[in-house]
Amino acid sequence: MKKIIDLITEEMKHAFIEKGYDEKFGIVTLSNRPDLCQYQCNGALAAAKQYKTAPIKIAQEVVELLQSSKTFKDITAIMPGFINITLSEQFLADYVNQMKAEEHFGCEKEVNPKTVIIDYGGPNIAKPLHVGHMRSAIIGESLKRMLRFMGNKVIGDAHLGDWGLQMGLVIAELKRRKPELPYFDESFTGDYPVEAPFTISELEEIYPAASEYSKSNPEFKEEAKNITYLLQNNHRGYTAIWNHMLSVSVSDLMNIYETLNVSFDLWKKESDAQPYIPEMIQYLKDNNYTRISDGALVVDVKEETDTKEIPPCMILKTDGATLYNTTDLATIVERMKLFAPDRIIYITDKRQELYFEQVFRCARKTKLVGENTVLNFIGFGTMNGKDGKPFKTRDGGVMRLENLIKGVNDEVFRKIMENREMEEEEARTIAAKVGLAALKYGDLSNQVSKDYIFDVDRFTSFEGDTGPYILYTIVRIKSIIAKYKEIKKDINVSKEILPATTVSEQNLMLELTKFSEMLQNAYNETAPHRICAYIYDLANAFNTFYHETKIISEENEAKQASWIALITLVQDVLDTCIDLLGIEAPDRM
Ligand code: ARG
Repeated sequence: MKKIIDLITEEMKHAFIEKGYDEKFGIVTLSNRPDLCQYQCNGALAAAKQYKTAPIKIAQEVVELLQSSKTFKDITAIMPGFINITLSEQFLADYVNQMKAEEHFGCEKEVNPKTVIIDYGGPNIAKPLHVGHMRSAIIGESLKRMLRFMGNKVIGDAHLGDWGLQMGLVIAELKRRKPELPYFDESFTGDYPVEAPFTISELEEIYPAASEYSKSNPEFKEEAKNITYLLQNNHRGYTAIWNHMLSVSVSDLMNIYETLNVSFDLWKKESDAQPYIPEMIQYLKDNNYTRISDGALVVDVKEETDTKEIPPCMILKTDGATLYNTTDLATIVERMKLFAPDRIIYITDKRQELYFEQVFRCARKTKLVGENTVLNFIGFGTMNGKDGKPFKTRDGGVMRLENLIKGVNDEVFRKIMENREMEEEEARTIAAKVGLAALKYGDLSNQVSKDYIFDVDRFTSFEGDTGPYILYTIVRIKSIIAKYKEIKKDINVSKEILPATTVSEQNLMLELTKFSEMLQNAYNETAPHRICAYIYDLANAFNTFYHETKIISEENEAKQASWIALITLVQDVLDTCIDLLGIEAPDRM
């Protein structure tokens, strides 16, 4: 189904052609004076220069021709040559009825669907999740849903960090605390215990302790490095502990991601790419892509057009150890082999931008990535506290994700209990959904690359540009529809939406019609904030209509049925949009 803006533009272009002008002047845009009209065309002003005549004359000619069109209720030429457009009620009603009938409300899918891998989440084994991981998860989940909605084959990969020094640190610390464990007995040949020698909370306490201790104790750090090295070379005891760490962490992570309503198709790990490394390095060397720099193996990635210094991509350190880069390159090799993706999108903190630039250039230059495979980096900004500094706990520590979520849910719970009669248990369930919406919407309503301020009070407010406000609007619609169904049990009414009879109804329809264009823009720009902006406008338009319209007490049944059909469509569109954001609405709140 054509986008509404394209329909209007087409008609305008025809009129320009008909009057002897180039069609390029018939571009229509949303009005920047919504108080005067809905759309506008400024083409006559530009055309006047080319055709050496007065702009108003051109505008008038075009407008005169379009007077008889059923698309417009009002089309006027305004000095010095603007064309102001207001659509006819019938045209709008026809359009929304068609939206109602079509899949995805008529939003056209990608003509050439792609296989896309989205690398998001990126949690690290044995380290607590922090807000950066949360942003990656929230944004990635939304992009995954958007890309899928548009018809692509999308594979979401958690890409667990399970290969770095943190593993060695945890093992070294465990060895310090419990040297008697069989994993540390080099002569032990029996079966290791099935049970992990730690719980998730112990594990999460061990890592920060070990990391702290290593700072003041170089010997311990050396030991941790050595353990990391041995682990990466299949040391039997360490590998067994590492497997324990993995299983304990992954089951915990799965819970957290479930709470966040985030799900991955793949739970691949950095370690999964390791088998690809030796062959990859051989290939890079054989093809003369590498050189030795201060003992390290590197690939130069700077380009002539660079305005800033892009350091070489390091493949092997002086001591022969592999790095984060090496793993990411090998992961590209693995992904090409397993999925042959058309595109890989990485979502991390924007501080990793230069790093990914190096990795991408290296992969491209060395042809590790297919010629037609696009590599995208999407870097997000920092979540700050009210003081404008990166978000911390009250005592200055790193906020654990669970605590952050709990804080938001508690606040929503408090607000629910304060304002209405509700069983505590039900209120808790609802608060979990609304709290998640508050958190996600608070995040996604900002442009991804921007920093934003985490403000529990604002995010959880039931008014304003917030998740709870959107959900509240949906719940309100659901309750009107339920009431209507209860009254009209047996009556079979038409589900057609009739032309609007009031301005607020007209505006509501107008907002609905913008769905396809909005979504295609959000998709092309990988910008969930566009969806948020749209549903906020749509929710506002609905609420204005709702306050001015007595739907349930309306006596004209045809009119009433039409309103119900209209608000049902509004609900469907809102539901679809929040689903694309990874948010769900409760039935009441
Ligand atoms: N584990 C990394 C971190 O915590 C994020 C991983 C991002 N993905 C990647 N392919 N490097 O920073």
